[in-house]
Amino acid sequence: MNSMKLFLFTFSIITCSISPLLHAQDAAKGAELYKQCIACHGEKGDGNLAQKAPRLAGQHDWYVLKQLQDIKAGVTRKNPVMIPFLNKLNEQDMKDLAAYISKL
Ligand code: HEC
Repeated sequence: MNSMKLFLFTFSIITCSISPLLHAQDAAKGAELYKQCIACHGEKGDGNLAQKAPRLAGQHDWYVLKQLQDIKAGVTRKNPVMIPFLNKLNEQDMKDLAAYISKL
């Protein structure tokens, strides 16, 4: 029984110390992916009137992810200019992007 407790204790310590690292990796990957969005949305996510691209900075990660999913699906939200970019992204890429954008 004692060894079980020790195992659970060790396991939870390891899990807690790894999770911030996972988040950092997500945002770092998102930063890399975001380079292709800068032309329209700006380096700091300020948006660009000339491109009619809205500000993304300060937005919640869950909202950004939902919009990317909706735009990619093209049913409730149609955005032809972003489709070529989104078609190259998988679900994890969009989550990483949302994690990065929410910190801009
Ligand atoms: C060619 C220009 C262009 C590029 C490149 C582009 N976007 Fe967009 N994006 C737009 C425009 C224009 C809109 C607004 C469209 C609309 O009115 O629905 C938009 C909307 C969005 C929205 C919804 C914002 C909101 O508040 O509803 C998100 C999120 C977004 N873009 C993220 C991205 C990400 C992430 C990338 C890079 C993978 C990207 N965009 C690349 C032009 C672009």
